[in-house]
Amino acid sequence: MARLFRAAAEAETVHAHAHLRALGAIKPTRENIQEAIAGETHEFKKMYPEMLQKAKVEGLKQAEVSFDYANQVEKIHAALYENALANLGKNKEVDYYVCPVCGNTVEEKAPATCPICKTAGSKFIKIS
Ligand SMILES: [Fe+2]
Ligand SMILES: [Fe+2]
Repeated sequence: MARLFRAAAEAETVHAHAHLRALGAIKPTRENIQEAIAGETHEFKKMYPEMLQKAKVEGLKQAEVSFDYANQVEKIHAALYENALANLGKNKEVDYYVCPVCGNTVEEKAPATCPICKTAGSKFIKIS
């Protein structure tokens, strides 16, 4: 069953890219990175803090943890994009490792333990 969901998710990505192309929303790399930075920054500066606050007020512990993880990781994504933008044209290809619990995203090597959620680094998903 998981394969069907992964296949459908892949197909939805194909659709999303086609829609974005139709909108003219896929731009040169520099602009794509700048937009990504703006999106991530909005998420960790405004969107997730507000959602986190609401979850706290409403006593939704699981949502609070989930929003907190996402908030911390969006900040990391923004930093990775900032670095990519600063080095545009001379970025080296590296593997990335993604924490399966909080989404923490790390370049080159998984940490021994996720600094955000404490998941073992051996569980990280390699993106190459
Ligand atoms: Fe992100
Ligand atoms: Fe994590």
